[in-house]
Amino acid sequence: MEFDIKSNIPFIEERINHLEKITNKDFPYSRIVFSKEFYEGRSWLKDQFNSLGLSISTDAAGNLIGLLKSNKKTDKLVIIGSHIDTVPSGGRYDGIAGVVSALCVINYIKKNDINLPFNLAVYDYLGEELNDWGTSCIGSRGIAGVLNDEILSRQNSAGQILKEEINKIGGNSELLNKPLPVVQNILACLELHIEQGKILEERKIDIGVVRSIPSISRFSVIVKGQAGHSGTILMNQRADALVTASQIISFVNKSALKLSQKSNQHFVATIGKLNVHPNSAAIIPGLVEMTIDLRATNENSRQEFLNILKKQLSLLEVSSSCNIDIKDIAFAPFVEMNKELINLFKNSANSLGLSNNIMDSGAGHDTAQLSRVVKAGMIFIPCKDGLSHCPEEYAEIYDISKGTAVLCKMVENLAIQSSN
Ligand code: GLV
Ligand code: MN
Ligand code: MN
Repeated sequence: MEFDIKSNIPFIEERINHLEKITNKDFPYSRIVFSKEFYEGRSWLKDQFNSLGLSISTDAAGNLIGLLKSNKKTDKLVIIGSHIDTVPSGGRYDGIAGVVSALCVINYIKKNDINLPFNLAVYDYLGEELNDWGTSCIGSRGIAGVLNDEILSRQNSAGQILKEEINKIGGNSELLNKPLPVVQNILACLELHIEQGKILEERKIDIGVVRSIPSISRFSVIVKGQAGHSGTILMNQRADALVTASQIISFVNKSALKLSQKSNQHFVATIGKLNVHPNSAAIIPGLVEMTIDLRATNENSRQEFLNILKKQLSLLEVSSSCNIDIKDIAFAPFVEMNKELINLFKNSANSLGLSNNIMDSGAGHDTAQLSRVVKAGMIFIPCKDGLSHCPEEYAEIYDISKGTAVLCKMVENLAIQSSN
């Protein structure tokens, strides 16, 4: 029986509504990785896996897995997954829509007694969002074997060491120095996600079939000036770290705008995190820490930006009497999705009569990390006004259900392919 888009709405709605209540109550919707709420979310997800009869495990990278075993004896695996962690005061759909739709696919397969020639797993990839350790996509990077010792040994501002948190949640940080063995068995990793942009909504398209995911580079910048009395140190005697930081912020913003216009390609740069020390009204700021987040589809533009940024930082050091340090803290390369999966996603959507377009992602996703080692592909569904990473994020459940229908069709198509 074909997946019925309308009648699956309650299944999806009920679960999204439930998960949104598992939040830091003071900052809805926050379920930061390793927080109390995150553990609560995972325990809810385990209950969901249980009620669907899935076997539950956690892999070395701390990903939570619900597995539906094939009747056939096989190690082959298809994964559908996304993430239940959120950014601070994020939305109710980023990642969540993908996990809930994966549950809905399993429900459909089980209800219809469909025998698959491969095992089918739902993954909650650990900590997709950027965290206090300066990295994102912990679980999918772990699968791909790109979490190195430097990253795993980092301490966050509360003094917690990343690898200890991964181990506490059931992972094994000793095994993360190479791709996890499971990659040899993976036929495909599929992810449904809200678009987090406006294209699908504006063009009234049901499904975006993702062609590429931009590179993401993050840099920590530390500006050291001299703290001092705000009343006594004259304006021409200061080394004000915040004033210098503000010049960096506007330089980054203006140069990224220029470069994106010049290259006519996706290129964005953001400074969204700033710590000012000692952060007191009567003290000249002595130290500022900030993070630059850079996304690019073109490596030349990225290099050009970094060159002009580094030159500008040297000039600023001289003119401001501050010391400026820039350090590379995270990198995910530009990736293209697997072409066979792109075509299969298109065929699946077409066969359901759902309008679709190939498009490039602006955001980062676990699928980007996974596609370094396995066949991976993803689809987008529309979200309201393109808003995401904020509490106003909204997607119609009907649209999520359409995307879920495409995932079901994909699983069926992959089953046909792998039986041939
Ligand atoms: C993931 O949400 C990202 O930062 O793109
Ligand atoms: Mn996401
Ligand atoms: Mn996100």
